[in-house]
Amino acid sequence: MRDQYGRELNDLRISLTDRCNLRCVYCMPEEGIDFRPPEELLRDGELLLLVRIAAELGVMRVRLTGGEPTVRPAVVDLVGAIGAVPGIRDLSMTTNGILLEYLAADLARAGLRRVNVSLDTLDPQKFGRITRGGRVERVLAGIARAEAVGLLPMKINAVVVRGFNEEDVVSLARLTLERPWEVRFIEVMPFGAVADVADAGIVTSEETMARIEAALGPLEAIDLSGGDPARTYRLRAAAGTLGFISPVSQPFCSKCGRLRLTADGRLRLCLLRDDEVDLLTPLRRGASYDELKEIFAAGAYRRPFGHALAERLFPEKRVMIQIGG
Ligand code: 5AD
Ligand code: SF4
Repeated sequence: MRDQYGRELNDLRISLTDRCNLRCVYCMPEEGIDFRPPEELLRDGELLLLVRIAAELGVMRVRLTGGEPTVRPAVVDLVGAIGAVPGIRDLSMTTNGILLEYLAADLARAGLRRVNVSLDTLDPQKFGRITRGGRVERVLAGIARAEAVGLLPMKINAVVVRGFNEEDVVSLARLTLERPWEVRFIEVMPFGAVADVADAGIVTSEETMARIEAALGPLEAIDLSGGDPARTYRLRAAAGTLGFISPVSQPFCSKCGRLRLTADGRLRLCLLRDDEVDLLTPLRRGASYDELKEIFAAGAYRRPFGHALAERLFPEKRVMIQIGG
């Protein structure tokens, strides 16, 4: 399956819920989020039908997101069922890690391959401030458990936010000296309802790299193609690697082959644009399998080329917690 710009669409990111057990400042506003009532979210069977369709259209990789995917009821069974859909070869999850200590073993057994864990700072106070009340020890325990049960390679995602954690990139990068992790630094993306966070001044990957090099020495390039979309580097003699994801300063839209399915059953055509295709309504109105497949493929084809952050056109309808990243 390709879109109108010829980009191959192999990746589907599925938001399992619009709820979360944290409240990160760049992901949701303090107040005023319109959480969907459960009956307006895709049920397990509906979601599996759409995964089957996506796989028939060529999707091979699925990443589960949220909100926080681990708070979805019966998430372990759902992981098992998604992984069993013919054609799905790689099943991963982006999680805040809070519940991983308890769920990692079951998730791995159900067929999850690996996890990306979000961790913006190691400092308990700052972690509490960014997540509006989260406890970093829970995340560290979750990471340890995930590694122990073989959810590998371990990737850590840190969103860099000025005034919150721009100095903490050094201690996060230092983790890779000892551990075989990929620690990735992400430029904060401006969504309408949380634009204040990004407006405080985006910390570019360039600035983050300079800060890390000043403290820990030169970075050796490993893969700068940016298709991953991280550009990766290594500190001298480090066990792990560092990744830099620069959606704002160096957009990778031309290489983006991602489709996103929201928890309320919309195909989101670009993370940073409001264009969506409603799949839930036709599904519930009794559309046939082939009709749904047609709506899915036609929607995917119309994917816009990329974002328009440079023109200060921010997504207004949703924030990340309602999309999943
Ligand atoms: N900009 C960049 N990354 C974000 N995430 C959430 N909101 C934003 C934002 N505004 C990240 C989370 C997590 C993933 C799901 O998306 O930190 O790693
Ligand atoms: Fe929750 Fe992840 Fe959003 Fe933080 S970034 S509020 S942990 S969904």
